[in-house]
Amino acid sequence: MSDNRDGFGSKLGAIAAAAGSAIGLGNIYRFPCLAGENGGGAFLLIYVLIVLGLGIPIMMAEFYIGRRGGKNPVGSIKVLSPKTKWNWIGYIGILAAFVVLAFYSTVSGWTLEYIYKAATNFFADKDIATIEQGFVDFNNNPFRPFLWQFIFMGLTAFIIFKGIKEGVEKYTKIMMPALFVILIILCVKSLTLDGAGEGLKFLFKPDFSKVDGNVILAALGQAFFSLSVGMGALITYGSYISKKDNLATTSLSVVAADTFVAILAGIIIFPAAFTFGIQPEAGAGLAFNTLPMIFDKMTGGYFFCIIFFILLAIAALTSTISLLEVVVAFLSEEHGIKRNTAIWIGTLVALFFGVFCTLSLRTDSVFVFGNMTFFDFMDKFSANILLPIGALFIVIFVAWKMGKESFYDEITNQNTLKMSVKKFIFFIIKYVAPIVIVAIFINQIINN
Ligand code: PHE
Repeated sequence: MSDNRDGFGSKLGAIAAAAGSAIGLGNIYRFPCLAGENGGGAFLLIYVLIVLGLGIPIMMAEFYIGRRGGKNPVGSIKVLSPKTKWNWIGYIGILAAFVVLAFYSTVSGWTLEYIYKAATNFFADKDIATIEQGFVDFNNNPFRPFLWQFIFMGLTAFIIFKGIKEGVEKYTKIMMPALFVILIILCVKSLTLDGAGEGLKFLFKPDFSKVDGNVILAALGQAFFSLSVGMGALITYGSYISKKDNLATTSLSVVAADTFVAILAGIIIFPAAFTFGIQPEAGAGLAFNTLPMIFDKMTGGYFFCIIFFILLAIAALTSTISLLEVVVAFLSEEHGIKRNTAIWIGTLVALFFGVFCTLSLRTDSVFVFGNMTFFDFMDKFSANILLPIGALFIVIFVAWKMGKESFYDEITNQNTLKMSVKKFIFFIIKYVAPIVIVAIFINQIINN
């Protein structure tokens, strides 16, 4: 591990850091939104199959590169495979970090707006139409969305700047479990709503007539996005993982926690959506607008609502930190730029694109191409294209270039861990993952 990257180190366990990256708006905002748009149950099934089948091996492949290489994505690959061109995979990751950060910072800004709205009691006794209109008005406001977006990226930069040990480590350990608790309370409440049966049926009963190439690609993209794989965030974090940790159980825990939170979010949101008459295809506003309606029906809902959006903001923050850290580690280690300068550069570039994402959501926006907003473009470009391509090259690099001896050596901590599943994991990395990813792409190209 290089000296200038003392960030996520000893105190925060590898699991908490990686889970902090994985669990975020992807679970609570993006997953329900996509499940809603792609027919519910069938989407969930494909998503879960991909997460369980490919998620753990791909995550291990990234941790392997990071821990063995000991650096950012580009640097780690250079260490593992000197004087080759494989480090280009790392550059795809850097690009992906900016693309994700751009639209993610827009949505992260919403979490702050919703904390504000909750605190000022905006949601009290409002019907869903008014709340939805509030969301539209907010996006059309000339400065508020930018204000929150800038504050949020400022917070991200500030925490990385301060050194991660001081702040995030301590807080994540308390906040993540707190988020779990509130989600479970919300889940119990949501299941008592009138639309619970209908909502659960939508989420869990697969209707395969809805499945086409787009649905499968969306599930693949969401799986990678939610697990933070395919772009080097977990390569970077892998370089902070202690040589003594077990990469397999770490990956298993992160994948399990991440999937649990996504499904929980679905169980909360769909019953509520059906109860309050929100279309599952409602898109971006689905989670944000449904949740206040549930809180409004709860005793103590006012406080729960504030706390919930604070926790959501923190979950988003631990993800934006992992994204920005990729860029900062890269700029400082590969280009000798001072860490603080690198933080500035990363934040400003991300915000530059982020502003256009936010602008594109205005009703009168010019940043809309056909019926795709720039925001949607960045979202789809990263999740459906960059991350799967990144993951594809990562598994090819690990299996076909580095080979099994090196991989086994690292994941068994130089043969000190007994791992009977290592062959199976390597088989998935070598054959199954590349074939599945390529097949989904080909299917998409042929059918479009
Ligand atoms: N996994 C994060 C989420 O679900 C988003 C993310 C994607 C973070 C890629 C890092 C890398 O919110």
